[in-house]
Amino acid sequence: MINVPKGTKDVLPNESYKWQYVESVARETAKLFHINEIRTPVFEHTELFQRGVGETTDVVTKEMYTFKDKGDRSITLKPEGTAGVVRSFIENGMGSGVLPAKMYYIIPAFRYERPQAGRLREFHQFGVEIFGAKDAQTDAEAILVADTLLKKLGIRVKLYINSIGCPTCRANYNRALKEFFAPNLDKLCYDCKTRYEKNPLRLLDCKEEECKKINAVAPSMLDYLCEDCAKHFADVKECLTQAGIAYEINNRIVRGLDYYTRTVFEFVSTDIGAQGTVCGGGRYDGLIQSLGGAPTPAVGFAAGIERLLMVMQQTGARLPEPETPTVYLAGMDTECRKKAFGLAAALRSAGVKTEIDHMERSIKAQFKYADKIGAKYVAVLGGNELAEGAVSVKNMLNGESEKVAFDDLVTYFL
Ligand code: HAM
Repeated sequence: MINVPKGTKDVLPNESYKWQYVESVARETAKLFHINEIRTPVFEHTELFQRGVGETTDVVTKEMYTFKDKGDRSITLKPEGTAGVVRSFIENGMGSGVLPAKMYYIIPAFRYERPQAGRLREFHQFGVEIFGAKDAQTDAEAILVADTLLKKLGIRVKLYINSIGCPTCRANYNRALKEFFAPNLDKLCYDCKTRYEKNPLRLLDCKEEECKKINAVAPSMLDYLCEDCAKHFADVKECLTQAGIAYEINNRIVRGLDYYTRTVFEFVSTDIGAQGTVCGGGRYDGLIQSLGGAPTPAVGFAAGIERLLMVMQQTGARLPEPETPTVYLAGMDTECRKKAFGLAAALRSAGVKTEIDHMERSIKAQFKYADKIGAKYVAVLGGNELAEGAVSVKNMLNGESEKVAFDDLVTYFL
């Protein structure tokens, strides 16, 4: 038997309605904010992520699904959505169009991680990117989109925000971090030694216990923000307060991807264990330029759909009922089944959700099946009905039955 690859999951037909629900609420939320969908390829040139996501991130160094295609090009399945959207923004000249350019996506993403609850190798994201606006209100707007989605889904989470400054103040902070970590260098893990050299901010992101202990007393970026970045962060907080969004400042949030500047944020649930971050994002004012576009400020976020569903299931958040047929047409014998097939075609083309027997079951078994799949009505066609040109329609909720002529059947269910 061939199994599903490690770290991936099937969404079975009896579960997919939950996914469709979360996706439709995400689309509705985007519409509320006048955000349209963008679709970009599942794979991109590897270089896009190396340059976009960052050479020192775990995502790029350890987790990418990279392969050579038959034309000997290095291709990578996208590990996240932002880089591809930025590539498209630049390539399609969206910077000279109407700004801000807002867009959302619902995508599969691929990271070669150690699978555990809430951590998969193929997972799905709903993401939003806003290009062209540098004001703090736009950061707050991105957070508000995520907050609106989470509230609509009935998910209770905590919002943590931080600012990691601009390249100017970050340089000062990196120096301070290096000074702080220098005496502890031999206690740091192997990866952190490289991080120390290449990108000290990443040191704060380490999950190793020993490194975490040292990190706990490291200097805070917030003490190193330049005047402009400090003002920007203060404005973000004010906008959040205006919108009634509760937040907590967490100066240890640096995010796992390199492109962020200024505001970073995470929505964290305590209901699903270690992988509690259901949504993360921030501003990335340097990314478009670093990928060859004109300098363009941008901000966005992505929410993990599996994690959203996990929290919803864990906390008993409201999910819609699975789709059920309005009517099940039961046929007594071959001839009745043939007529039922024709009636079902007419009902369906009129928009009535209809199911019929495909298994040559007895009438009793057909009733049982209709009940199991949640049909609201069962319309029975036997020899008498066929002769009369009518079906006996039973309301499965109250048990009442009535005869309905073939010609009236469609209007009966409309
Ligand atoms: P990220 O924090 O890497 O950010 O991922 C966003 C969300 O995707 C996470 O909060 C989590 O819910 C989900 N996620 C990440 N990795 C996994 C995994 N292995 N298994 C299941 N779920 C996962 C980004 O991807 C950025 N592109 C977000 C962004 C958009 N920033 C600005 N714009």
